[in-house]
Amino acid sequence: MNSTGYSGQSWPDPAGRWDKFVSFDHYLEAARLAHQGTFDAVFLSDHPALQAVATARPLHSLDPIVLFTALAARVPDIGFVITASSSYNSPYNLARRLASLDHISGGRVIWNVVSSFNPDIAANFGSAPLPPRAERYRRADEFVEVVKKLWRSWDLRAIAAPERVGDPLWDDVSAAPIDHHGEFFDVRGPLNVPLGPQGYPLIAQAGASDAGIDLAGRHADIVYASLLGKQAARDFRDRLRARAVAHGRDPEHIRLLPGLVPIVADTEEQARRRHEQLNGHTGEADLIAAVAARFGLSATKLGPDTVLEPDAFGYDEDQQAPIGFTRSVRDLVAAEPLTLRELARRAEGGHRLVVGTAEQVAEQILDWWRAGVVDGYTVQPPVLIDDLRVFVRDVVPLLRAAGAFGTDYPEPTVRSRFGLPDPVPAVAPAVSAS
Ligand SMILES: Cc1cc2nc3c(=O)[nH]c(=O)nc-3n(C[C@H](O)[C@H](O)[C@H](O)COP(=O)(O)O)c2cc1C
Repeated sequence: MNSTGYSGQSWPDPAGRWDKFVSFDHYLEAARLAHQGTFDAVFLSDHPALQAVATARPLHSLDPIVLFTALAARVPDIGFVITASSSYNSPYNLARRLASLDHISGGRVIWNVVSSFNPDIAANFGSAPLPPRAERYRRADEFVEVVKKLWRSWDLRAIAAPERVGDPLWDDVSAAPIDHHGEFFDVRGPLNVPLGPQGYPLIAQAGASDAGIDLAGRHADIVYASLLGKQAARDFRDRLRARAVAHGRDPEHIRLLPGLVPIVADTEEQARRRHEQLNGHTGEADLIAAVAARFGLSATKLGPDTVLEPDAFGYDEDQQAPIGFTRSVRDLVAAEPLTLRELARRAEGGHRLVVGTAEQVAEQILDWWRAGVVDGYTVQPPVLIDDLRVFVRDVVPLLRAAGAFGTDYPEPTVRSRFGLPDPVPAVAPAVSAS
């Protein structure tokens, strides 16, 4: 639910509310709609730097922790996916803030760990340039490890409840220092926030380089990704599960929720026109030319109906931009014979595009889910609020009718809703002999 929506053309607002991106009411309306549609969570991506292009739609302005704290007080049940950088935060501060919100919200916090790839962010936090990817991921791994140790470090269940003044609130067993000394951090602990309603927040991860998948395999409960084809999604899922196993984890404990951009209209033709308009194009030819230009291809030379060569969609393991978005296009073109005309309708802004009537969109959503390739999706409405409203009104009932989507919130925390086990099983408090 970033800003005015996923589409670059969702801005400016036809009603003249050009400052909607900093309006609490705007996000409140979006979160309430998502709640009405029984979404598991709402999600904010984040970059702590002013966007470089002044004429682009506003993005990543309000701090996700602050915004979600306010929303948690107004919208029940729904979870909050908070993006926060492991390169430009301190583990103790972040662990404390997220654990605090987890208490306040009743166990509804998911932390999306990002290592940050934008040099403009680096420049806001010191004079050192953005470290190379390998270093950022080493730091991310240690950062998450420290945060988890801190989250586990004070367990109220491991001590008898104080009954009178002078009884201890904690002891050496219930609140132990973590004494962490690593490459990047030295942290004594324990944290001054105890385990919460769901133990501690879930962890989400979106990096898709080898190091990113390794981080996910080690720590992630939820993985957000750019996956454009069913086979590519299956391959990615297998890689992720293999990494989880390599780290001694149960692969059943990871939920894969790739991005999905739905464009829904009364007819397929109307949905296609809307797709073109959302990109500022006059028609399909214009859209195809723009897609070709984006990948450095010549639409006139190639022709819209020539099958594409995967080699035309290379990516560099050392590139600064996230690998997930470039690799996903290459994987799609390698797995299926696709023309430029077809490719233009398969991806939007780096994520899987589904265009059509509500029935067609629901069928495409269910197809991957029924095949066991994904556990769900991260829905990215092109225009907030409009496309979320249409999705909740027209698509969600079809998903419910298919038995793929709930009608209420039977489980109180996001951890229990995702069917994930308690991260810290309770130990009986020590009974002192008298
Ligand atoms: C789908 C997706 C969403 C992402 N969202 C963010 C974000 O909100 N903020 C951010 O700093 N990085 C974001 N990233 C970047 C990665 O999480 C990661 O920290 C880094 O860029 C390296 O990614 P890589 O392993 O794919 O190369 C995103 C990446 C993907 C694939």
